[in-house]
Amino acid sequence: MPDRVTTGSDYRFGLRLAERGIVVGVSDGIAWIRGLPTARLDELIACEDGSTGLVFQLGREVIGAIILSQTHALTAGMAVRHSGRRLEIGVGDVLLGRVVDPLGAPLDGMPQPVFDAFGALETAAPGIMERDFVSAPLYTGCKVVDALIPVGKGQRQLIIGDDGTGKSALALDTIINQRGRNVLCVLVLVGQTRSSVAGAIEALQKAGALEYTAVIVAEANALPGFRYLAPFAGCAIAEHWMRHGRDTLVVYDDLTRHAQAYRELSLLLHRPPGREAFPGDIFYLHSRLLERSTILSAACGGGSMTALPIVETEQGEIAAYIPTNLISITDGQIYFDSRLFAAGIFPAIDVGRSVSRIGGNAQHPAIKAAAGRIRLDYLQFLELELFARFGTRLEAEAEQRLRRGRLLREALKQDRFAPVPERAQLAWLLAYSAQMLDALAPAKVPAVLASLLKEVDARGPALDASRDAWLAALREMLAGIVA
Ligand SMILES: Nc1ncnc2c1ncn2[C@@H]1O[C@H](COP(=O)(O)OP(=O)(O)OP(=O)(O)O)[C@@H](O)[C@H]1O
Ligand SMILES: [Mg+2]
Repeated sequence: MPDRVTTGSDYRFGLRLAERGIVVGVSDGIAWIRGLPTARLDELIACEDGSTGLVFQLGREVIGAIILSQTHALTAGMAVRHSGRRLEIGVGDVLLGRVVDPLGAPLDGMPQPVFDAFGALETAAPGIMERDFVSAPLYTGCKVVDALIPVGKGQRQLIIGDDGTGKSALALDTIINQRGRNVLCVLVLVGQTRSSVAGAIEALQKAGALEYTAVIVAEANALPGFRYLAPFAGCAIAEHWMRHGRDTLVVYDDLTRHAQAYRELSLLLHRPPGREAFPGDIFYLHSRLLERSTILSAACGGGSMTALPIVETEQGEIAAYIPTNLISITDGQIYFDSRLFAAGIFPAIDVGRSVSRIGGNAQHPAIKAAAGRIRLDYLQFLELELFARFGTRLEAEAEQRLRRGRLLREALKQDRFAPVPERAQLAWLLAYSAQMLDALAPAKVPAVLASLLKEVDARGPALDASRDAWLAALREMLAGIVA
């Protein structure tokens, strides 16, 4: 034992342990590391060349990490340290109007945002005592949704359908409709092409919606780790606002590609593949993401996070693995049908297969009362129409139902970027159910309705006005328009 040279009373003799890991392999966004026995899951690691990663897989000797940043020098044999820190990302109002990657680096050509708050990418969802019931509406501005498949603040509503049927369009319109409603939005774009990313951002910008929106992008050619992290980053950003009592809306576009990124990572990390080659914990992945969306009780600030996850189906197959998982996690789904889309019915929402399990409680009483039977009437009409296609002779009453059904279908049509405010929603619902539109030819309905809604928006009664006051006002306006 060496002689102890005491230089002062603060001298302590002892061993200092440091782990020194070595990179043993690098491939496709993954690094394999040996020699870090105390590394933990989700811990940040740093290589000597400056590359960083996140511990993702623990093995007896070798651990797997997803690479977050990579220099050209990263190669086997390099020393690695672990940090003891979990990954946190910058959150807060500086992200409004910005387009960033999942780690907060700017993608919009503007300077790096300076964060004063950070949030963990993965946290536990709020407990049951912290939550409140969904009771306030979140208006999408889409007639079909707000009337028949309403969404409440804090709800998780799945948008599901084949590719190119208008899923993203509905989500973007919903963000645009939050203008002036004090809802902060987060748009997460996972695995999309650069052109569709640019299209979405441009649409928001044109509508003046970017100023209350943060956009998180992990393009199709980003590292799989980034595509995997993006929804969690978006969730952490919204969570920060929710914890500060704000209402937020998060769009995950889309979770099919997120699941694929996770599958890619899992296969690269040699996890055993299960159904459709997805790892067994894919359900847990999406449930822990979506469980974080909720409405907090007044005692916890009363903030909310409404989630609109999007999932793509193939040829309308909603029984595929990822769609069924997501249907069971969410509080309802809006189903887009490619056949309706092909028939020119926009938005191509199949009302029969769509449902909102809790949104009805959040609907404004007047809108709820006016929308009451419409869903059922519409579904009966669709059935009747199918039946009538066989050339059956129908009774006068059935003919009348068909006529009204066709009228309703016309009334439900809506263009993109034309959100319908809630008073106008009530107006068309009342006009339809009080049979004020019956005298019109179906083809004329969209134009008449458009003028009516414009007028209601300008000088209609308040949402809380009595039904009679509404009907009188609508009659007078309609008479003016048709004349
Ligand atoms: N209400 C609408 N009226 C007219 N056109 C619409 C409407 N909604 C969507 N579209 C058009 O349909 C096309 C597909 O829409 P969108 O990109 O939103 O579909 P998607 O389901 O998100 O597709 P993908 O699966 O490729 O992401 C777009 O060209 C869009 O402009
Ligand atoms: Mg899309």
